[in-house]
Order: sequence, then C-alpha cells, then structure tokens
Amino acid sequence: MRIAIASDHAAVELRQSVAKRLVELGYVVDDLGCGPGERVDYPRYAAAVCGAVMQGAADRGILLCGTGIGMSIAANKIVGIRAALVHDVTTARLCAEHNNANVLCLGARSTGPMIIQECVETWLTTAFDPRHQARLDLISQME
Ligand code: RB5
Repeated sequence: MRIAIASDHAAVELRQSVAKRLVELGYVVDDLGCGPGERVDYPRYAAAVCGAVMQGAADRGILLCGTGIGMSIAANKIVGIRAALVHDVTTARLCAEHNNANVLCLGARSTGPMIIQECVETWLTTAFDPRHQARLDLISQME
C-alpha cells in the first residue's frame, strides 16, 4: 500500500517518526513535507496529499497539523476525499470500518505520539464494512 503523508510545521518530527515506522512495517511512503524549520500553510499540504490520493499516486493519505482540524477541513473540500480527524484508536477503527476514510488527520498538539501511531496502524489495517456503502453514496451525491 502506498501512503502519502504531510504535515505543517506543528508536526514535522511526529510526521517523520510516523513515516519511518510505516516504512519499517512495509508500507511505501511518500513524504510530501514540510521540511524542518519551515513555517507553512497547512491547506497546501492537504491539497498535495489529497491530490496524490485522487490521482492514484497514493492509496491513502495522512495529514498532521497542530490539531488536525485545519487539515481535515481543507482535505474534505476535495471531491472524493473522506478525511477523518481522529483522537483515539476507536475513532481510527470506525472511520475505516464505517466511513472508508481515505485520509487520516491527526493533531500533534492534541494527541500523544503513541496514540497517533496506534491510530495510524489501526486505520490502515481495518477493513471497510460494505453495509455502510449506501451512506457513502449519499455523501458522494452531495459533491
Ligand atoms: C498552525 O499554527 C496551526 O494553526 C495548525 O497546525 C493547525 O492546528 C490548524 O488547524
């Protein structure tokens, strides 16, 4: 599975550590920045990751900022993206199982690093339950 990941300046070290662990687990990771020491605008990074997902360059996207809120708002502007902001393993599991979230958003200032890693791994390994497909179709009709 190919994963595009990005963050703003609030989550650089955490993003790098998540990316490193995902590579260790066998995922193909495309780290789209930002670089250490930069101060950036999170919507640009949301657009880059979501673009990679929608163009098929990545199967899933991961976005981190201070709270994950800005990234999730920006990501969900893009047609076809179902971005979920999660704070715990339960919501990470359910956003895969019920919502088929193709982008995971996390807050480096609001959620601890170990929980973030667990959320990422849970989301990546939980299958979508197709009983929820009709609701996703209704969301698609709104786009
Ligand atoms: C950047 O300071 C901060 O606003 C951003 O990381 C994020 O929390 C926005 O939602």
